[in-house]
Amino acid sequence: MVLDGKKLAGEIKSQIREEVIRLKEKGIIPGLAVVIVGNDPASKVYVKNKKRACEEIGVYSEEVALREETTQDQLLQVISALNKDKKIHGILVQFPLPGHISSSAVTRAISPEKDVDCFNEYNLGKICSGEADIFPCTPFGIIEILRSNGIEIEGKTCTIVGRSNIVGKPLSLMMLSRNATVTVCHSKTKDIKKFCSQADILVSAVGKPKLISEDMVKKGATLIDVGINRLPDGKLCGDVDFERVKIKAEHITPVPGGVGPMTIAVLMKNLVKLAEKYDNK
Ligand code: GUN
Repeated sequence: MVLDGKKLAGEIKSQIREEVIRLKEKGIIPGLAVVIVGNDPASKVYVKNKKRACEEIGVYSEEVALREETTQDQLLQVISALNKDKKIHGILVQFPLPGHISSSAVTRAISPEKDVDCFNEYNLGKICSGEADIFPCTPFGIIEILRSNGIEIEGKTCTIVGRSNIVGKPLSLMMLSRNATVTVCHSKTKDIKKFCSQADILVSAVGKPKLISEDMVKKGATLIDVGINRLPDGKLCGDVDFERVKIKAEHITPVPGGVGPMTIAVLMKNLVKLAEKYDNK
């Protein structure tokens, strides 16, 4: 069964729209600031999609587009001003950043109360202790896909390929706190196939077309494909050899239309949560 992330994302956004109406009745208008540095074409598309989602659910958004040459100090000053801006409840600095800017300095500068991406160390720490109320968008989107399709996590073996700060690391904590047995593979893992083929839930977040082939997958497994790769013919594909693996898997997410749209829907969830919790504080 192909897991339709696009449809689910639409349903989530409809629910959030209702919540936004309720918040507006209480005088709260959630606001998102999206900061982009430089001219990365993929980042520009993501930022446009995030702003469009804000329009769809009826919240305020603003874009701060900065030149590639922007210094780290200048970016930190922009974040500091947004931290104080009462219209803004969520600050998102689009990654990747130019090489001369430290992403950890940036995530640390965003107030934990406006950290809509949940990249700040304080909020990540709350995931470790099981006290979080917001989650990084890609892992959160994955958990929502599993939950809404009735795919159990507890007691399952889960292999995650990729250990990024944005996806693999936080997802491993979130799966662990839901009582999965978790393995994280990365570029130095000796035998990735061994760990993939024992997974009930296999997540790939690497960015390599056809990295996950049919022979690496257990029959009846759930495949979650976080990869977004552009092929020479311009088409998008994930990390999983979709056509072959879908025959063996019980559930599989497509690319596009799987995890991608979900990340934006749950970003809106995080925004509304932060607005509700911290407006005027
Ligand atoms: N780049 C790729 N994914 C993300 C994300 O979830 N948030 C931000 N800020 N940048 C990204």
